[in-house]
Amino acid sequence: MDMIETGGVDELRALQLKRLRDAVRHAHDRIPHYRKAFASAGVHPDDLHHLSDIAKFPLTTKEDLRQNYPYGMFAVPMEQIVRIHASSGTTGKPTVAGYTKNDIETWSRLMARSIQAAGGSSNDTVHIAYGYGMFTGGLGAHYGAEHLGAAVIPVSGGFTDRQVQIITDFRPDIIMVTPSYMLAIADAFERHGIDARKSSLRLGLFGAEPWGEGIRTEIEQRMGIEALDIYGLSEVMGPGVAQECPESKGALTIWEDHFFPEIINPDTGRPAADGEPGELVITTLTKEGMPVIRYRTRDLTRLLPNPARAMRRIARIHGRSDDMLIIRGVNVFPSQIEAALALEDRLAPHYLIELRRPGHMDEVDVVVETRAILGGKLSGADLAGLERSAAHQIKAFVGITATVRVVEPGTLERSQGKAQRVLDLRPKG
Ligand code: DLL
Repeated sequence: MDMIETGGVDELRALQLKRLRDAVRHAHDRIPHYRKAFASAGVHPDDLHHLSDIAKFPLTTKEDLRQNYPYGMFAVPMEQIVRIHASSGTTGKPTVAGYTKNDIETWSRLMARSIQAAGGSSNDTVHIAYGYGMFTGGLGAHYGAEHLGAAVIPVSGGFTDRQVQIITDFRPDIIMVTPSYMLAIADAFERHGIDARKSSLRLGLFGAEPWGEGIRTEIEQRMGIEALDIYGLSEVMGPGVAQECPESKGALTIWEDHFFPEIINPDTGRPAADGEPGELVITTLTKEGMPVIRYRTRDLTRLLPNPARAMRRIARIHGRSDDMLIIRGVNVFPSQIEAALALEDRLAPHYLIELRRPGHMDEVDVVVETRAILGGKLSGADLAGLERSAAHQIKAFVGITATVRVVEPGTLERSQGKAQRVLDLRPKG
């Protein structure tokens, strides 16, 4: 365990200030984008005397990274870069991240720390079903689990029946996968008539997409494991930026010795106080290859105190500001619809929100599956009743009128990575 993990707040803040000053200077001296951006904001690395001075520096956006595609945000020559990852995003060019040897070492340490903080150890066998490739999930988890000294099974995503076979035969203790793909694997256990609760798994680290308490309960009950949240993003590092710990559940400890978090109001860009909701902004404190200064993650959360450590926690991410749907003028996050559906226990957490605008008005269809355990088909009357009651919950909790279509288990396509929850068929513009 790193000493700083168990140290006091004063020691942590002193380390952060030292590292923050080095990081801002490193970015300024090595990356033309930051030099220009600081100059036009009238700030200089010498202006950083206190942690709060960081708020004087300009924010960095995904668009800034895109404009410097592919390598313009790297702070070291290519011969010092040992790994490149990219995040696809839904539009335009991917954003690229480059790592030096030290960066890979730090990332591995922080992922090992995350797995350990979640309750894993070198005695464990870890099944990794995050995708391997440009996505940071697979390789990030892999290097971390190996660094911890655990036995790694590098399965990657896909081939769902084989996932079941490997869990059954190789007897892993821990699984690392997106929560939506975990549910698809749980379905496959059922199809094979194998009781997943009797598998060797005891713990899962789930992330890369928003997931609510409804999905946590579903995974924990169907798989018979403890389900914990892991957060990260490629622009900042990859998985292992923050981890939910069993002793402080409900929010994730952010590894503040390597990342300086701020919350801003996403509309005004102004800093928000601890506890207030807003957008998470992260400055990397130790990255060499691609440091980011005040990176706007678009992820919506709050900074919370930590009952167990000096490092603060972030509330579970309930969505991204760019995932917010505006439906007939009402701001809606897919996670709110997910939470409303979770109130009806005959519905499974497999859903798709379809948006159309046939005339001047938005129309919302929520397609959701019933649970497999209900067996057989629901009668027409039961189905209609269930659809009405789900639509009522959505109206009551989210404030929009939606048509709910309840479908048989297995109707909706399963994702093998991040789930696609929204199909927006409205005309653009
Ligand atoms: O998703 C890194 C990762 C891999 C995290 C595996 C956890 C586990 P990107 O592909 O760059 O990196 O996507 C980052 O995914 O800004 C969030 O919007 C979302 N995200 C990641 N973790 C969570 C989480 C990886 N635990 C983007 N809860 C982030 C909610 C998450 N959203």
